[in-house]
Amino acid sequence: MSTMYKRLQKSVKFIRSKTDLKPKVALVLGSGLGDYADGITIESTVNYQELEDFPVSTVPGHKGRFIFGYVHDVPVVIMQGRVHYYEGYSVSEVVMPIRLMGLLGAKCLFLTNASGAINRDFKPGDFMLLRDHILLGVPSPLIGLNIDELGVRFPDMSEVYSGELAEHIRNAAAAMGIGLKEGTYLQVSGPNFETPAEIRAYGVMGADVVGMSTACEAVAANHMGMKVCGLSCISNMAAGISTSKLTHEEVQETASRVAPDFKRLITASILRIGISL
Ligand code: HPA
Repeated sequence: MSTMYKRLQKSVKFIRSKTDLKPKVALVLGSGLGDYADGITIESTVNYQELEDFPVSTVPGHKGRFIFGYVHDVPVVIMQGRVHYYEGYSVSEVVMPIRLMGLLGAKCLFLTNASGAINRDFKPGDFMLLRDHILLGVPSPLIGLNIDELGVRFPDMSEVYSGELAEHIRNAAAAMGIGLKEGTYLQVSGPNFETPAEIRAYGVMGADVVGMSTACEAVAANHMGMKVCGLSCISNMAAGISTSKLTHEEVQETASRVAPDFKRLITASILRIGISL
């Protein structure tokens, strides 16, 4: 058995000593969404620090805990704060919380993030449904001994983002009158923002938005057979497209400004997904 799988099993055991809630949906909260969990029925919380051998978030504005509870009647586990590759963790550590939520029974992974727009038809405050991704300059989380208990050595990635889940999110947005863009998310390592030349190159490659998370998490979830969906909040125009300099504060500010609509869309989407699972 791989060392990573043993580490995951230890965390499963610890969490099971705290709660027997079996989540249907695993939700990862991106920048500006941290307080989403305040609006749900919470059953229990587990700080990442309580788990042995587990990565802990070091980014301002990112708490680090799992919240177990219900969005209306849909059982969920929520990651309030994620860990990023730029924090110095290996990619296989970055995806540990995702794999853990899958092992706890979540059938669906709902990823959210803030991103910079490369596509000039997008603007800050827009929401984008992830249709596909490009992982660039960040190694695959599946490198190393394959964890056979989770999935196969060479997994297919031709539909990482489930068309079925995407349709639920599309329908939820339409029913609420919330506009929704669709496109390809490109994950870079960060922590620096990109240069204008990099952004031009990523645009040619087919990316609509750029960010520092998400794609590696989607790969790990797809490997273990979870259905994946993703929603991005456009917090800024990417470098060189906007004339202003980029800051983490700008990202947080825009994400917080549109958070009320983003949260309503997440809830409505989870309800539709919950019924379908
Ligand atoms: N680049 C990378 N990551 C980001 C950005 C960006 O412009 N905005 C929010 N996350």
